[in-house]
Amino acid sequence: MFHMKVIKAKTHKEAGYLAADEFEKVMEKKADCVIGLATGSTPLPFYDELIQREKNRALSFSSVRTVNLDEYVGLEAEDPQSYRYYMQKNLFDHISIKRENILIPNGLEKDKETLCRKYENQIEVWGGIDIQLLGIGHNGHIGFNEPDDFFAVSTHEVKLTEKTRKANQRFFKSPNDVPKSAITVGIGTIMSAKKIVMMAVGGDKAEIIKKAFCGPVTPKIPASILQFHPNVTLICDEAAYMGFY
Ligand code: GLP
Repeated sequence: MFHMKVIKAKTHKEAGYLAADEFEKVMEKKADCVIGLATGSTPLPFYDELIQREKNRALSFSSVRTVNLDEYVGLEAEDPQSYRYYMQKNLFDHISIKRENILIPNGLEKDKETLCRKYENQIEVWGGIDIQLLGIGHNGHIGFNEPDDFFAVSTHEVKLTEKTRKANQRFFKSPNDVPKSAITVGIGTIMSAKKIVMMAVGGDKAEIIKKAFCGPVTPKIPASILQFHPNVTLICDEAAYMGFY
């Protein structure tokens, strides 16, 4: 482990609170900052906390720009399983963010190459991501960058592994409903963020946390590349933190 700061939270809720602290610091300094957001069950208390803090006027989203990590291919924005829907319900509908300041891949776009190029361009036009939130998949994926023989640099379409489809099956009616591919930002996109906050909660994440941060950097464990990022804060609950023992 190199520059990483590891914080142990008592609970999932506290992990969300501590992650919100990191974002608040950036938002305080730069009202129009660009924040990178993630989906999954891990960030939910973090989003609750952000909503609460804006209600309490501790922070404001009125000038903030957001960039999401990924989206399933083939799902409409209104589909309750889409990440767009997740973001609306769990964050955007409850804060003052402007619609034009939200960037999330359109899973229905036919021309994926143009979509991916435009996505990268928009991030660049906005001046890059100031702070990026990450969860981690059981196989070490970040965003939807799955284990591979190389690190994918920029936004691209990715075929989801069976492991990931299985893990995400819990949100769908039937296993066959889980999309086979997704659009995800690349490892290069993530590594270009000025600061990264990863949240990991639950005993089922302990093993991958150990592999990603105490083992070799390899595209077989995409999150391991974060060992080379100069400003990463990892927030674990007690169960995930056990990976370090
Ligand atoms: C999904 C998302 C990731 C997320 C991961 C872990 O596949 N694409 O961004 O980090 O799952 O999800 P959870 O937080 O539910 O464990």
